[in-house]
Formats: sequence, structure tokens, C-alpha cells
Amino acid sequence: MSSPTLKVGIVGLGRLGQRHAINLAQRVPNAEVVAACSPVPAELDWAASQLGITTGYADYDALLAHPGLDAVFLVTPTSLHADQIIAALRAGKHVFCEKPLSLDLADCLKVEAEAARHPQLTIMIGFVRRFDASYHDAQQKIAQGLIGKPYLVRSQTCDQNDPSGAFMRFAPTSGGIFLDCSVHDIDLARWLLGNPVPKRVYASGTNAIHTGLQAFGDVDNGLATVEFADGSMASFMASRTMAHGHETLTEVFGTGGRLAVGSNPRLNRVEISDAHGVRNECTPDFYARFADAFLIEAQEFTDAALGRRTLSLTLHDATEATRIGLAMTQAMREARPVEF
Ligand code: NAI
Repeated sequence: MSSPTLKVGIVGLGRLGQRHAINLAQRVPNAEVVAACSPVPAELDWAASQLGITTGYADYDALLAHPGLDAVFLVTPTSLHADQIIAALRAGKHVFCEKPLSLDLADCLKVEAEAARHPQLTIMIGFVRRFDASYHDAQQKIAQGLIGKPYLVRSQTCDQNDPSGAFMRFAPTSGGIFLDCSVHDIDLARWLLGNPVPKRVYASGTNAIHTGLQAFGDVDNGLATVEFADGSMASFMASRTMAHGHETLTEVFGTGGRLAVGSNPRLNRVEISDAHGVRNECTPDFYARFADAFLIEAQEFTDAALGRRTLSLTLHDATEATRIGLAMTQAMREARPVEF
């Protein structure tokens, strides 16, 4: 007897949606992509020609009505996440949704309330770094007490500068650099510190290159510090202007030691020695760094929706990440500490 597969609809086939679609269609054995949804006809054509996903819907409600659909994979603009998750849950579908859950705290809580009405459905927000082998190992080692009591996380998400400024397209809807980029680091900090409760936030930023971001109250480099009620702390940097490539780095300081993940953002193990010195090439972008984790994430969601495992992260974790990211954004825009 063949084992059941999860019949998935992929929603959104942009920059990241195409990557997820390829994984689901080709590398997640227990998933079957039965339909795609996008308002852009060329994206549906891509899904048909590249992946053989011949059923395409321009309309999300029509996708939800697709016969036999078990789950949706939402890789849509962040402003759509909350409503699309709620509609999927009401239609009885399991939901994977990209981060962040929402840019609005009330919407996060609405999604949590709806999810509570459907305990049989799996819902996962894509905090992909939790599925990276190195972060997973670091978390296990901290839980085992290897570095004593962890009290400080210093974490950064720094993207290579794109001189074309293509990311400006996302500026009106991304929620700003802290909700778009640091939300990953916030989730990591909570996870690695054992889910402390935030107390106060300080933040500031600058526009080193992309001054057009000012019009959206955004910056291309941001710094923030979060104090937690138990005395632990986290400090974050986000940047869109690195010259050398994408560099995600996280350090965790404990009473008995320190762990660092990503302190050399090398592309691979090739070391180049030449007239410039001794060096490695750098990961160019987030996908090069986290490709394996995106696949593991999709496999874990699929297995959880099929009832074969439980998830290690909760919807409330995603609400907390938004809550802290919003406070960081407010602290920067109003140039003052923000209390929770
Ligand atoms: P994108 O703009 O390249 O793609 C968005 C897609 O959604 C497009 O295919 C568009 O046609 C589709 N779409 C728009 N309205 C729709 C609707 N009403 N129904 C169905 N589809 C619709 O954006 P990108 O970069 O792929 O980002 C998507 C999401 O993924 C965002 O929430 C972003 O925060 C997240 N993301 C997560 C990353 C991570 O590291 N986990 C990295 C990059 C993005």
C-alpha cells in the first residue's frame, strides 16, 4: 500500500515561492503539488512548464476549493498573510506561511484565535533558521547546558548590497528592515534564550546607500537592543549594504561559554591564497546560506500535517517575533525606548 501524500497548493510564485515550489514538487517525497495560485499568468505558466503543475488559479478562493486539497503553502506578500491563513483554516486546510506572520499585532492574535478553533490543522510560520543544522545543533547544546546559563544573544542579518535597489519594490509593504530581516534574529534569540518575555527596546538606524528608504520610514542599516524581564538581552543588526555578500551571524553568550553560528560566512570550504591574502568566497544571498534549511522546513511541515510528527515552533512564537519587531521599529522611528 502506498503511503498517503499531502496534497499541497503553492500560493505565490515570486522570488521565494518558486524555490518552495521546486522543493515541494521535487524534493519532499510526502508532498504532491496539485495546484498553484498567482495573479500573474506568467508565474502559472512557469509552474506548468517547469514543474508540471498544470492546474493554476488566479483566485485564492478558487484554489481553496480545489478538490482534495489538504494544505496551502503561502509565499505571498506579508500584507496578505493573516487573511489568507484565516481563509485556509476556515476551509479546513493545513497552512505553511512565510515569515513574518503579519505586520499587525491584532492580526497575529486573530490568526491565533482562528487556529485555536482548528486544533486538528497544522500551521507553521517559516522561521527557516530553526531548521538549519548549525542553529539546531547550537540550540541543543545550549539546552544541554554546554555554555551554562545563556544571557545575551548578538545576532545579525546582513544582505549584500544590490546596487539596482530592487528591494525598494518591497519597501512599501515589508514593514521595514526589523520586521523583514531582524524578525529571523528575534525568533532565534527567543528560541536560544528559552522564550524570555520582552521588557524594553532601544533602536536606531541609518541610510548608508539607499536614501529612498527614508520615504517609507525605513533604513538600510538598523541596530536594536531588547531587554527581557528575566535580565537576559539581545542585540540585533540588520543591513542591506554589505559589500562582501550575505552574512547571517549569531553569537550566544552564557555563564560558561559562547557559541557562534556563521562567524565566517564562507560559501564553501575552498580557501584561496593569492596576492590579496588568504580568504574564502562569501555566500551571495540568504538562499545560498539556508537552501538546506528551506528543504528540511518543507519536509517537517509536510510530515506534521500528515500527523507523523509535532512541530517544534508555535504560532505564538511568530506573534512574539512580530510584537518585538514592531517595538523595534517604533523605537527607531520615534527615537526613544519603547516599553512593553
Ligand atoms: P515576491 O513579491 O517575489 O512574490 C510574491 C508572490 O505573491 C508573487 O508570485 C505574486 O504574484 C504573488 N501574489 C501577490 N498577490 C497574490 C494573491 N492575492 N494571491 C496569490 N498570490 C499573490 O515576494 P517574495 O520575496 O517571494 O516574498 C514572499 C514572502 O516570503 C514575504 O512574506 C517575505 O517576507 C517572505 N520571505 C521570506 C524569506 C525567508 O528567509 N524565509 C526570504 C524572502 C522572502
